[in-house]
Amino acid sequence: MPPTEPGSPAPPAPGRPLPGGLVVHRFAPTGRPAAEDARAALFVRTVERGFYEPEPTGEALDQLLGHEHADGRTYTGVYEAGADPAVDRPVGTFAGFGKRLHVGGGRDVDALLVSAVTVAPSHRRRGILRALMESELALAAAAGTPLAALTASEATIYRRFGFGAATALRRVEVDVRGDAALAGPVSGTVRLVEPAELAAIGPEVFERTRRQVPGSVERMASYAAHETDTVAGDRAGRGGLYAAVHHDDGGTPRGYVTYRFAGWDTEPATVRVSQLYASTAAGTRALWAFLASLDLVERIAWRSAPDDGVLEHLFADHRRVRTTHREDHLWLRLLDVPAALGARPYAHDGEVTLRVHDRLGHAAGDWRLSVAGGAAAVGRAAAGAGAAAPDLELDVADLSAAYLGGVPAEVLRQAGRVAEHRRGAAAELSGLLAPDRPVHCMTGF
Ligand SMILES: CC(C)(COP(=O)(O)OP(=O)(O)OC[C@H]1O[C@@H](n2cnc3c(N)ncnc32)[C@H](O)[C@@H]1OP(=O)(O)O)[C@@H](O)C(=O)NCCC(=O)NCCS
Repeated sequence: MPPTEPGSPAPPAPGRPLPGGLVVHRFAPTGRPAAEDARAALFVRTVERGFYEPEPTGEALDQLLGHEHADGRTYTGVYEAGADPAVDRPVGTFAGFGKRLHVGGGRDVDALLVSAVTVAPSHRRRGILRALMESELALAAAAGTPLAALTASEATIYRRFGFGAATALRRVEVDVRGDAALAGPVSGTVRLVEPAELAAIGPEVFERTRRQVPGSVERMASYAAHETDTVAGDRAGRGGLYAAVHHDDGGTPRGYVTYRFAGWDTEPATVRVSQLYASTAAGTRALWAFLASLDLVERIAWRSAPDDGVLEHLFADHRRVRTTHREDHLWLRLLDVPAALGARPYAHDGEVTLRVHDRLGHAAGDWRLSVAGGAAAVGRAAAGAGAAAPDLELDVADLSAAYLGGVPAEVLRQAGRVAEHRRGAAAELSGLLAPDRPVHCMTGF
């Protein structure tokens, strides 16, 4: 939908009306500095305030606006009637933008990414989030977007809108005292580089890696600034960033890691990984061999490690790897069932019928998923009197959680979220949806 002009409320979107006295303005950041884009500047400052973050100013604000523009974000702000978005803060914020999500087998699907969701304390629990979310999902569905995605501040908010947690992240600590040997072979070279050098290879290595990791979305514009240590202003935490690049035996860059030393006051002596991407398994092993052999360092900590168990198997001694926290990460919401299921690859042939409940209607109904030769045909299944009962009955949130294969449908059956009307059907769906590689979302947004 085209952004509206300053001061003119957007036409009502399909979906739930806003609570009385409030209006919506929809616009995109122009990419110009804050002084020339006051409403976008006030919008992003209000978002930061909504998460209790310091509000960016000066160079940091200009850089943030540039990144948001580059990502193609559209802002939807809820304002008091008569407010001027260039001067008055929104009481509700919501950002939507399109990126591609990898779904396995080298295939991507278009996703609506949802971010910057905040409501002012003065206006909470009056239905502002509900009105925004339902309207924006309806617009995305009408535009043919197969699914929506977000990351959540709390796990109890988004299921009601049909989102299910499809991937998880974990915090790990790896004890690298003594000889932290790897189980497998290590090849190629890893060398320290200036972070600025990642400007040349970072985007390509990230993208090549992403295209192999189901659950990963294209990265945000801000990533380049983070990995080259050029985040502006006091948002930066700047300085002390190390970068190392892995080249394979043929001299091609296959992975990189950025990290900071936690300081001599931290015991045991700790290095904190910021980013670690490798487009080959050999690259992952080489980067970890490099980290594990850093002199004077006793522990490697990583806040956003994949939840795939690779790290444990990577070290000869599994117990060097300790998970200190695990959390849902990427939440998905199918909007177009045939498009979403048809976009991903399948491990083997089979057929399952599903009755999907969706309070918002987008995915609701009886569906037949037939897989032949690794490709799916998805159509409406016969419903009503005389029709066979569906094999499985589930909410769209649970189908969305199971979609990438990281959460087996059989697990959801055992948890009481999926009703099985044909014995073994949940395990069959788990088998059909099994991912070609462990699922993980490499991107935060
Ligand atoms: C989360 C937030 C955006 C909710 O906005 P809101 O306008 O108060 O939400 P609504 O009034 O539209 O609530 C819609 C429904 O969600 C529920 N809900 C809202 N916030 C919730 C929360 N934090 N936890 C659990 N349920 C929540 C409401 O109870 C309501 O439930 P219902 O289905 O019974 O009607 C707001 O509380 C906020 O800004 N929180 C801080 C920032 C944040 O965490 N944002 C989310 C980022 S992912």
